[in-house]
Amino acid sequence: MKQGKLITTANVVKADRAIEYLQRRPKLELVGLGLVYGKPGLGKSTWASRTAFSKGYIYLRLESTTTPKNFAQRLLSSLASRYNYGNVPTCGATNTIFKRCMAILENHEDAVIIVDEIDYAFSNKQLLGAIRDIVDETLAIVILVGMQNAKDKLLQVNEYYFDRCNVFCEFSSSDKKDISELCRQVMDKTPNDAMQEMIYRESTGNLRRAVKLIYGVENAIAGNQNSSSQPSEIN
Ligand SMILES: Nc1ncnc2c1ncn2[C@@H]1O[C@H](COP(=O)(O)OP(=O)(O)OP(=O)(O)O)[C@@H](O)[C@H]1O
Ligand SMILES: [Mg+2]
Repeated sequence: MKQGKLITTANVVKADRAIEYLQRRPKLELVGLGLVYGKPGLGKSTWASRTAFSKGYIYLRLESTTTPKNFAQRLLSSLASRYNYGNVPTCGATNTIFKRCMAILENHEDAVIIVDEIDYAFSNKQLLGAIRDIVDETLAIVILVGMQNAKDKLLQVNEYYFDRCNVFCEFSSSDKKDISELCRQVMDKTPNDAMQEMIYRESTGNLRRAVKLIYGVENAIAGNQNSSSQPSEIN
């Protein structure tokens, strides 16, 4: 199975368009904030990380342990490396580190920052506030990526934040065309129509499930028995 690909699914096209929409916005009137959200396994993180890599965007993934300070430090390191600032010190107070981030962003108005797993910030007002400051005080585009209920959560947690969001993009289940394209691009041997149909049907348009099925099928072809989408029991 071939790894590391970004299939241009309908969701990928939609999410790319959301960024383009913000890039074209009247920057003095509208802030560059967007939200990408959707059910698990539909390809949000894959789109975010692989697009960031290919287009030179900053990609940061929040974790349950992320604090405002280590978020600021990771953002500063990523910005410094992206814009060739060399070794920028990431020590000092959180506010000082954020100020250094803002200074870099002032010189790079085209910056796009994607913050994945934004749901972790909903319970951390300081972290959410710091991200909002970037949006309010710079021309950078900030794309938040979250779970299915992230849109409602954002409204509940902070109406002002929600109000600033100028584009929403929901990932939906992939159709047969997307799943067939995934099969063609990642499978070692092009699968026949029946195989593509089976993977589409069993995955119900969930790309994570489709990839598990593909691996199961290829493993079975290679001589093993298990072609289920469930994790294999290795004996
Ligand atoms: N566009 C794509 N091209 C190739 N593979 C993809 C693509 N989108 C998703 N996948 C595959 O599906 C898997 C699951 O996708 P991903 O982790 O991006 O989903 P997610 O929407 O972020 O899920 P979660 O909400 O659980 O974080 C990936 O590990 C990858 O193998
Ligand atoms: Mg994800």
